[in-house]
Amino acid sequence: MTDFGSYQNEIYGAGLRGIVPKVPVDYATLVKRAEAAMPPFVLPYVQGGCGDEWTQDRNAEAFHHWGMVPRMMVDCTTRDLSTELFGHTYHSPIFMSPIGVTGICTQDGHGDIAAAQASAATGVPMMVSTLGNDTLEDVAQHLGSTPGFFQLYTPRDRDLAESLVRRAETAGYRAIVVTLDTWITGWRPRDLNTGNFPQLRGHVLVNYTADPVFRRLLGKDPATAPMETIALWSRLFGHVMTWDDLAWLKSITSLPIVLKGICHPDDAWRGVDLGADAIFCSNHGGRQANGGIAAIDLLPDVVAACGDTPVLFDSGIRSGSDVVKALALGARAVGVGRPFAYGLALDGAAGAAHVLKCVLAEADLMMAVNGMPTLADVRAAGAQRIAL
Ligand code: FNR
Repeated sequence: MTDFGSYQNEIYGAGLRGIVPKVPVDYATLVKRAEAAMPPFVLPYVQGGCGDEWTQDRNAEAFHHWGMVPRMMVDCTTRDLSTELFGHTYHSPIFMSPIGVTGICTQDGHGDIAAAQASAATGVPMMVSTLGNDTLEDVAQHLGSTPGFFQLYTPRDRDLAESLVRRAETAGYRAIVVTLDTWITGWRPRDLNTGNFPQLRGHVLVNYTADPVFRRLLGKDPATAPMETIALWSRLFGHVMTWDDLAWLKSITSLPIVLKGICHPDDAWRGVDLGADAIFCSNHGGRQANGGIAAIDLLPDVVAACGDTPVLFDSGIRSGSDVVKALALGARAVGVGRPFAYGLALDGAAGAAHVLKCVLAEADLMMAVNGMPTLADVRAAGAQRIAL
């Protein structure tokens, strides 16, 4: 039981002393401030999506055509937002989605560590991307008592993939989140117009350059061969995961496997059938394919296909009310993506923690006002599709 909503009392209390939040509490103002603060080699990469960004925009807008009906005369003085995943109870139902450029969202280049510190401070678990500016081992050191998950971009070389997975196990991560939709980069006009792809400039490759298999394949010290390092990374990135690969992935780890990027109920069902421990309904925030349909609109069918297997969700979460709607539509846990990256850019670990606390506070207060003291109540209430 955690009173996330009391964060607003802290904010109002500080206001009495003339102090207003350093980082905005709402997404629109957060983005405006981040736009002014983030350098040109980071901002378009974080902000941009695929094609004309129709899907990316729909992801967030579609939450407006889902609504919930309040219930009254229910004792909601305390709320329980805890959720269970892989045998562990998390006190909040949100997590930090993997963002490969977290490292360069802070000016010191250690945004991955700052994000981990935000995770430790809030208890919101972090999915640590394969793409990082600090090693997955170093990041794990800063997660405190909050469990973390490792997101795998499966390399074409199986020894390298196994090495990354082993390292994640040894570092104490609690699940392998394998991203299926990004073996190739989607068409991203903002990045193309500026000719900017951070990895090709040598950013966020530290998990590779620190890896014994990668170093063996490179045959020299990456520090002395930056261009060869980038070329090798580029050759090795992006194995196309197929259903046949799932048995192999399961054979190399005892950690739970989460399939990220599932949008079709048949894929969800097949993943569950082949032994995935969780299905992650996500369209990568509209960065990969510009197909039109918002991820939240796809969630109910994915949930229906998964039976008791947990479904995680992200893409378009901008507020606590978005979180509650996704939970009402059946998500077991909900990923916050871009908002925490902007928080990081504005005030490092404290900024990211603030963003997460705001999302949790709004979710908690929405449940309080709506007469839904537990996530089971939220799920039972459901959300209705509104004709706009
Ligand atoms: C991502 N995402 C992502 N996903 C992943 O599995 N591994 C990664 O390294 C990244 N990197 C990444 C970078 C940036 C800049 C963004 C914005 C996103 C996708 C991410 O996990 C998540 O699915 C989306 O961010 C969800 O969309 P919204 O809610 O952030 O718009």
